[in-house]
Formats: sequence, C-alpha cells, structure tokens
Amino acid sequence: MSSDGSSPVASKMQGFLKRSSWIRKMFEEGLRLKAKYGAENICDLSLGNPDLAPPHVFQKALEAKAMDRSAGVHAYMPNAGLADVRARVAEHAGRDHGVGLGADEIVMTCGAAGGLNIIFKSLLDPGDEVITPRPFFVEYSFYVDNHEGRLVPVDSARGFSLDVNAIKRAMTQKTKAILINSPNNPSGAVYSEDSLKALAGMLKEAEGLCGRRVFLVSDEPYRRIVFDGKSAPAVLRHYEASIVATSFSKDLSIPGERIGYVAVHPDVPQKKALVGALNLANRILGFVNAPALMQRVVAEVIDTAVDIKIYERRRDLLAGILSDAGYEFVMPQGAFYFFPRSPISDDVKFVSMLQDELILAVPGSGFGLPGHFRLAFCMDEKVIERSRAGFMAAMKKANGSV
Ligand SMILES: Cc1ncc(COP(=O)(O)O)c(C=O)c1O
Repeated sequence: MSSDGSSPVASKMQGFLKRSSWIRKMFEEGLRLKAKYGAENICDLSLGNPDLAPPHVFQKALEAKAMDRSAGVHAYMPNAGLADVRARVAEHAGRDHGVGLGADEIVMTCGAAGGLNIIFKSLLDPGDEVITPRPFFVEYSFYVDNHEGRLVPVDSARGFSLDVNAIKRAMTQKTKAILINSPNNPSGAVYSEDSLKALAGMLKEAEGLCGRRVFLVSDEPYRRIVFDGKSAPAVLRHYEASIVATSFSKDLSIPGERIGYVAVHPDVPQKKALVGALNLANRILGFVNAPALMQRVVAEVIDTAVDIKIYERRRDLLAGILSDAGYEFVMPQGAFYFFPRSPISDDVKFVSMLQDELILAVPGSGFGLPGHFRLAFCMDEKVIERSRAGFMAAMKKANGSV
C-alpha cells in the first residue's frame, strides 16, 4: 500500500523521491538560470560528467570492432562476460593491483554502479550493514537498500583520510562489508597504503576475535585519476576478502557506455560460490551481461587513459581561485572534485548563494556531510576561470561584508 493512496508509486520509492527532491530542485534551478542568462554565462561545476573526448585509440578500436560481422558477435554470452575479454582485464588488473588474477576472478559489468549492485545483491541478507566513510557518493545508500541492507556512514579522519578506529567502533554482528572509495567522490582523497594496511589488519583481527568475516568492497572508478605523479595504493594487496568494483567511465571518458568490471581477490573465501552469485546477480538484476561491443573495445585499449595532466591543471586553477577568495579546502589528490567547507553552516543556503553568482555546486548534505559543498572540475578551464568573481562575491556576502 503506498503512503499516498492516489499514487502508483510505492511508499518507499516516494520517500526516496522526496529525499532526492532537492537535487531535482537544484537541477531545475540550474536549467532556469541557463535559460535566463544563457548556458555560456553559467559556471556549472555541479556535474561529474567528464568533458574530455575519449582517447583516439578508443575511437579507432570502436570503429574496428563495429565492423566485425562474425557469426554470434551480437549473441548472448556467459553472464560474466566474454572469456577473452575477462582474461585481458584480469592480466591488466592483476598487474595494477600486484596480485595474480585470472579470467574467473573477473565479472564484466554495466559500469561501477552495476558492479556495486551485483556485489551487494550477492553479499547482503536483509538487515546486513555496510559501513562507509562520509562524505560518500550519494547513490551508495540506494544501492545498499536495493538489496535490503543498511548503509552505516562513519566519520573520516583529518583531510578526509580513512579513520580505521571509527570503522571499528561502528562494527556490529550485522556488519557484512566495509565500502571504501579512493580516489574519493566528493573529497578527492586518496587513501594511503598505511591506512589500507591498518584497515586490513583491523578486519583480520575482528575475524579472529568473533569468527565473522567482513568483506572489503572497494569502489574505484577514479583509480587512474591521481595527481602529482602519484598512484592510488591497491586494496587487493592487503586483504583476501576484498572485491573491487570499477569502470572505464571516468578514465576513458565514456560513462554513457556503461562498461566496467568487478575483480575478486584470487584467495577470497568461497570464491566459486561468490563468483557464481555475482554472475547470477548480473542476470537477475536485468543487466544480463555488460554490453558486448564495449567489452571488446575496452579490452583493446585497457592500458590507455585520458590525459590526467589536464585535470591536474584544472585542479590547480580552481585551488588558486578558492584560496584567493578565502575558502577552506583540502587539496584533492585524485578524482575531479573539491569539497570545500561552506563559509556558512547551512550548505544548501550557501549553494543557493553561489547560484545567485551563476555558479552551480552541490551541497555537502547530499554526500552525508553538511557544512561543505562539492565542485567538479571536469569542465573547460574557461568555465573555471569565469567562476572567480562569483566565488569572491559569494564569500563576501557569506561574511556579511556586502
Ligand atoms: C564514487 C563513484 N562510484 C560509482 C560511480 C558510478 O560509476 P559508473 O558510471 O561507472 O557506474 C560514480 C559515478 O560518478 C562515482 O562517482
């Protein structure tokens, strides 16, 4: 029975719609501003939609694969994906993570979002808890709820780094998984090797004490977008009960193509059962399998990524603008977001003050951490440069000096 008798929409879904209504409102306000002032006059820093063109080799591989007329090229396939593609992905991911991976440890997915959903479908019983550090990607609570679990956000440590003690304190008999995201959306934090080691150590100790295995789920669509010549430490190296969900959405700039993969640790407990569950989840959630053409294309270009230096330049430009205007922020080490502190405690109000200056941003409340706001820098440098005066003006107004 829905809460609103006249609505065909389930009451739970009505609640979700209400919860995300401010996102819709903001989006609509953005459209209104663009219509009123012209899109070219609005600094839209609200969306994590990469603007860079995919690498040239991607386009070439796509054209070549599209010409393939062999029998069965468009047929159904195993739910995990094409065997030769999985072998290629396993070789690449194994090298990257410093563990030996085989094709049977890879499931091709409809993006990282599809990957997370098959993981939670496979792991969660009703009421199981998934702990995640805040701020966190807004969709996590929906993905966990899709599979009858409960998301349990915990505080991060200084600079949005991993607070292993906070995670430990939040663990209960119902904790089934820890969900981490590094490089992080929205904070841009990259978790250090030491913090991953400490997390793995804590989880092993917890298992030793109470015989309960807690899975580590690592959401890594920004893994290859790391700045200052650094790289993101690998989770699989530290903990056997770990599962990675990732995609090519950001590093190849192809989020609309819905292609990614899940990699399970080669020594993950009950591997056969787990991989079988992931495959079935791909099927029964209605994904069936990841898009065939895209599987073939990404396997060809898997060692390629967009030019990260472009994002790094934009990060530096926006950091300069924010510093000059007096905003407090942690310098992002990866991904393409800033998560500055709002100069007034009401982040939703401050985002609307930015809108008055024709800048679109997202309130931190949407990421489980009010008092902040998120800015994306996956847009042209001209757009970022144009935001300078608006950031200054909004800060002055927030300080009551205008
Ligand atoms: C942290 C995080 N996880 C998952 C996703 C979903 O990625 P995909 O488009 O590959 O499904 C996103 C997309 O923005 C993201 O930021």
